[in-house]
Amino acid sequence: MPPVLLSASFRRVLFLSIFVLAFPAAAEKVKLDASQWGHEAGDACVSCHTKSSSGLAQQWRDSAHAAAGVNCMDCHRAEREDADAIEHEGQVIATIVSPKDCGRCHTKEFEEQQGSVHAEAYSIIEDRLPALAQNVGGSAMQAASCDQCHGSRVKVRGDGTLDPATWPNSGIGRINPDGSKGSCSSCHGRHRFSKAQAREPEACVRCHSGPDSPDKEIFEASKHGMVYAAHREEMNLDAAEWVAGRDYTAAPTCVSCHMGAAGKLPSTHDVGLRNVWSLNTPVSKRQFLVIFEDGAKMELPGDEAAPRRGTEMARADGTVGVVKAVATPERRRQAMTLVCVECHGKGFTEGFMRQFDAVVELYNTKFGEPARAIMAGLYERGLLTPTAFDEPIEFTYWELWHDEGARGRHGASMMSPNHAWWEGMYLVGRNFYARFLPEARAAAGGHADEVVDAVLRANGQHEWLDQPGQMSAILGFPPQEVE
Ligand code: HEC
Ligand code: HEC
Ligand code: HEC
Ligand code: HEC
Ligand code: HEC
Ligand code: HEC
Ligand code: HEC
Ligand code: HEC
Repeated sequence: MPPVLLSASFRRVLFLSIFVLAFPAAAEKVKLDASQWGHEAGDACVSCHTKSSSGLAQQWRDSAHAAAGVNCMDCHRAEREDADAIEHEGQVIATIVSPKDCGRCHTKEFEEQQGSVHAEAYSIIEDRLPALAQNVGGSAMQAASCDQCHGSRVKVRGDGTLDPATWPNSGIGRINPDGSKGSCSSCHGRHRFSKAQAREPEACVRCHSGPDSPDKEIFEASKHGMVYAAHREEMNLDAAEWVAGRDYTAAPTCVSCHMGAAGKLPSTHDVGLRNVWSLNTPVSKRQFLVIFEDGAKMELPGDEAAPRRGTEMARADGTVGVVKAVATPERRRQAMTLVCVECHGKGFTEGFMRQFDAVVELYNTKFGEPARAIMAGLYERGLLTPTAFDEPIEFTYWELWHDEGARGRHGASMMSPNHAWWEGMYLVGRNFYARFLPEARAAAGGHADEVVDAVLRANGQHEWLDQPGQMSAILGFPPQEVE
């Protein structure tokens, strides 16, 4: 099949804009030069650790760092005034090597990673941890689960050592003692820090599997997963450069679509750059990506007016930023599309995207928006307590958007028909009609008509239920039996 290319002018405009977004400043591959590493104390670390932790020392010996002469002290060295500095064998070191520490040499990766949604993974859930992790589970769960994926807020004890309630941890949005966010060893296993290893889907699946982000399961069930498994040895994962369509063609991995280079599209450590939708929210929104002068980024709903360059905006952390650039949802979609057209036709790719967007619109308008409106009505009238997860319907609603709702939308976006329907939207429909509505009516009591049925009538996509009360009776889920 001849490659179908985007028009040259379109490609140029797009490429330039993405390029500017992805590289706020021109950066060399490694910022320092070799005269600035190879710390003289490094040899002693290696020789003693070859005895005390020989596996660790060997992993470092097998790394690109050892080959280039970057030693233990080049990464672990610390200033005495650092919160987590410890005195160790005559040197001042820190156990945590933060993204900021790596960024001394890898500036481009550090800047892209700090501005990404990955870096915000702890901040965005911090306020929700009490309800879910503490009340439903217990504090032991936060350290062993949520924080392992989202990251912990690392606490340092008085002597500079790390509080075991918060570390070990390599969560994607960990808050480090130096204030930087995330951990580079989330994806680059230490002490090899290999890029080949990070290109594999396995680098992502520790976190992107299970109910809320079942991307491992979806990828494996898709045709891409199938051809990847069949042709893994042709993927050229060890290559110095890894450009889709040039260095490999057999199949895309997670990284190809979300981070990798393709044609003239550069690779990026900002995994959200090419995504249009927020797929893990009660109602999905198309999103602008706002980039500030200081490098910070923010997602903004696509139905609001795009802020102009130079505008000042309040940010989630309370600071004010000056807008440098805005990527529209259309532009983000074009970036993703540039990956696809290395291996597919343009018409094929657009057709696929249309099918995907239609599933998100369907989820939003038929289930997401009405369910949200019904919950809001129940809270407003005091028919539910403000405490999260103390009533059955709060679990039903959470799972509706967070589990099957996310699964259906992810399934449609990444080509698994099974996850789009049976594991996704089918369960959304079943649970909406057979659990959520009966529970909402039970909670609403005498207000059921205004709080529940009025929403359904106004929605217009539930007319096949000619009598709104009917469903619960047919399916044998009368409200009083729902626990
Ligand atoms: C004489 C042997 C020796 C030398 C030299 C040495 N280490 Fe260690 N190091 C150890 C041992 C043993 C442990 C484990 C200590 C423990 O578990 O309490 C350790 C622990 C560590 C830890 C983990 C600390 C923690 O929070 O658990 C780091 C990081 C570390 N060493 C880095 C270094 C670096 C960097 C150097 C070079 C400046 C170095 N080591 C030199 C023996 C040594
Ligand atoms: C490229 C930077 C880099 C180099 C080089 C490096 N480390 Fe590390 N090391 C890290 C990172 C990152 C961590 C993970 C700490 C964290 O962020 O939680 C770590 C963790 C550790 C730990 C504690 C975690 C564990 O698994 O026990 C020890 C001990 C350690 N390093 C020792 C060494 C020694 C000894 C060397 C040299 C042979 C070395 N490191 C070289 C980056 C580096
Ligand atoms: C196996 C890894 C993993 C664990 C464990 C985990 N999460 Fe998540 N969580 C994720 C991933 C990945 C996403 C992002 C899904 C996406 O955007 O596609 C996410 C998304 C979320 C969101 C939605 C964020 C948004 O976009 O609004 C919330 C809230 C959340 N997690 C809270 C928690 C809490 C609280 C816990 C512990 C009780 C927890 N998570 C445990 C991986 C995990
Ligand atoms: C979400 C997973 C992930 C995280 C987190 C991550 N990386 Fe990477 N990194 C990758 C992947 C995948 C590649 C290979 C990209 C490619 O070749 O297209 C890579 C490549 C690299 C490279 C090689 C670049 C080149 O052009 O040769 C460096 C250096 C690097 N990462 C540093 C970092 C640093 C520093 C951090 C933390 C600030 C970090 N990475 C965090 C996944 C990650
Ligand atoms: C003192 C400078 C320095 C520091 C600090 C540093 N690196 Fe590197 N890194 C290098 C050099 C030099 C190379 C080799 C570059 C090359 O071969 O082109 C490299 C290569 C890499 C690669 C590519 C490996 C491959 O498979 O080709 C990754 C990934 C990487 N570093 C990640 C990290 C991470 C993560 C940290 C922090 C934990 C870190 N580096 C800290 C200098 C550094
Ligand atoms: C240590 C856990 C962890 C690893 C490893 C990880 N992620 Fe994530 N990822 C998360 C969490 C948590 C979120 C949700 C963050 C948020 O919403 O702020 C997320 C969000 C995302 C998103 C959603 C971005 C958006 O637009 O909302 C994408 C895409 C993504 N990750 C891709 C990847 C890829 C590709 C890899 C592997 C190269 C990877 N992740 C590795 C935890 C992880
Ligand atoms: C063939 C390309 C492709 C592959 C392979 C792929 N994805 Fe995706 N992914 C997409 C597209 C397209 C979307 C929807 C983007 C949008 O919102 O426009 C998406 C969405 C996501 C999201 C949800 C982002 C959000 O907006 O909430 C996450 C998380 C994610 N992918 C992670 C992964 C992981 C992890 C893997 C590997 C196991 C993977 N993806 C494999 C193309 C791909
Ligand atoms: C590195 C090459 C490569 C990239 C990049 C790639 N694909 Fe694919 N894709 C394939 C291969 C190979 C197949 C299996 C071919 C077949 O249908 O037999 C496939 C199959 C598919 C299928 C299933 C087709 C069918 O007939 O069942 C869809 C849909 C798809 N890709 C969409 C996309 C989208 C959308 C993107 C970009 C987000 C993308 N692909 C990126 C190589 C790629």
